[in-house]
Amino acid sequence: MEFNFCINDVLPHRLNCIDGSMLPDSFESDDRQMIAECQQKVAIILDKIGVSSGIAQGLQTPVTSSDRLRNSDHKVYLLTNPDGDGGDGTVVGLLKIGHKKLYVFDAAGKHHELTPICVLDFYVHESMQRAGCGRMLYEHMLQAENINPEYLALDRPSEKLLGFLKKHYDLVHIIPQNNNFVVYDRFFSTNPDLLPGYKNSAKIDSSRAAGKSSFSITPASGRALVSRPVGAMDKAK
Ligand code: COA
Repeated sequence: MEFNFCINDVLPHRLNCIDGSMLPDSFESDDRQMIAECQQKVAIILDKIGVSSGIAQGLQTPVTSSDRLRNSDHKVYLLTNPDGDGGDGTVVGLLKIGHKKLYVFDAAGKHHELTPICVLDFYVHESMQRAGCGRMLYEHMLQAENINPEYLALDRPSEKLLGFLKKHYDLVHIIPQNNNFVVYDRFFSTNPDLLPGYKNSAKIDSSRAAGKSSFSITPASGRALVSRPVGAMDKAK
């Protein structure tokens, strides 16, 4: 995804994280004008890729936008290709996460009030899908958040995301919920000290972290729109 400004100036790393301040994690200046300019460009990036993500998922309203992120406690991880657009860089994908207060059923049907980290939006540009970009983003997020993939809740995951999690993280068995969020059986079963203090207990498995792979970005083609599961207690993303 190309922009009419140099992406590498705004997002200097291949993997970047934007929070409610609307500044990349790498941003350091105290200069007000530089801050404002950077925030403005970040907003343009988020709005454009957010729209593409919404279209890819058949959503009427984008889940990711500058307005929604600004001053929130959510985060958007952005993957770039610094060599794209003649060396100005392109934006390849986004992964939005954040805590949500949820009522989650375990496999025995008992419900728990939790505030897990949720995957709220995930998108890789159509020209780059199925080339490892999604995994690169996801792995970076898992490392940065220090969390195992089974401890994330997913907001209305598409078939592609379910396939992605099965392939890369062997996540298969979903526990049915009364809302649009999806959790897997390992959300509970491999985390015996889950309650209380969910946020503190769902830490990353160091053996998995040690096995982290490296990936390269190469173009791919072919994608399909997906149908989305609909739950009774639809929560806005
Ligand atoms: N159909 C089915 N599965 C797909 C798929 C497709 N069109 N695209 C990706 N996947 C799954 C498959 O398991 C695939 O493995 P395979 O190619 O061996 O079958 C795996 O993801 C590829 O992993 P990776 O290349 O790291 O992922 P990616 O860069 O394609 O990114 C998504 C994954 C889900 C972010 C990307 O497909 C996407 O943006 N899809 C459209 C938006 C969307 O559905 N987002 C999920 C929001 S809930």
